[in-house]
Amino acid sequence: MAIKYDAIQRGNISEILGRLEKKGYKIVGLKMVTPTRQQIEAHYHDLKGRPFFAGLVDYMTGLPLVCIVAEGKGVISYSRVMIGATNPLVAPPGTIRGDLSVDVGRNSVHGSDSVETAKDEINLWFKPEEVANYELANAQWVYEK
Ligand code: RTP
Ligand code: MG
Repeated sequence: MAIKYDAIQRGNISEILGRLEKKGYKIVGLKMVTPTRQQIEAHYHDLKGRPFFAGLVDYMTGLPLVCIVAEGKGVISYSRVMIGATNPLVAPPGTIRGDLSVDVGRNSVHGSDSVETAKDEINLWFKPEEVANYELANAQWVYEK
C-alpha cells in the first residue's frame, strides 16, 4: 500500500497505518519516498493510455509518498476492501477512501490489486533489506494457529 501526498498533507498517515495495525496486519516495510516520474510511470504502467494517466503521473511525481509493505492472512484482497472503491464517493463509510476522501484524484491511498502486482510493486519501491522479518508478539491473538 502507499499513502498518497493528499493524505500526508491531511495528517492521515497515522490513521491509515493504524487501520492496518488494528486489523491485525503486520507492517514489515515502511518509508517515505519522493518518486521520480520514471518510478510513477513504472508503478502505474498498466494504466498507460488511460485518459487520466498523464494527470496522475504529473500529480504524483516529486511529491512524497509513504510506501508500506504489510503482511497477514488475506492482506492483499482485504486491504482493497479496507481501501474502498477508486472513487471515494462510492466507497462506503468505514473504508479509507469512504471516510477520508472525496475526489478520485485525491483518494488517499494506493493498494496493490493482486499477489503478482504486490510482488512487482515491492520490488519497485523496496530493496530486499528494507523489508523486515519478525514475529508479532500478539500473533496468537490474531490467528487461531
Ligand atoms: P490505486 O492503483 O491508486 O490503488 O487505485 P485503484 O486501483 O483503485 O484505481 P486504478 O484504476 O488503478 O487508478 C489508479 C489511480 O488513478 C486515479 N484515477 N483517476 N479520473 C479518473 O477516472 C481516474 N481513475 C483513476 C486514481 O487516483 C486512482 O487511485
Ligand atoms: Mg490500481
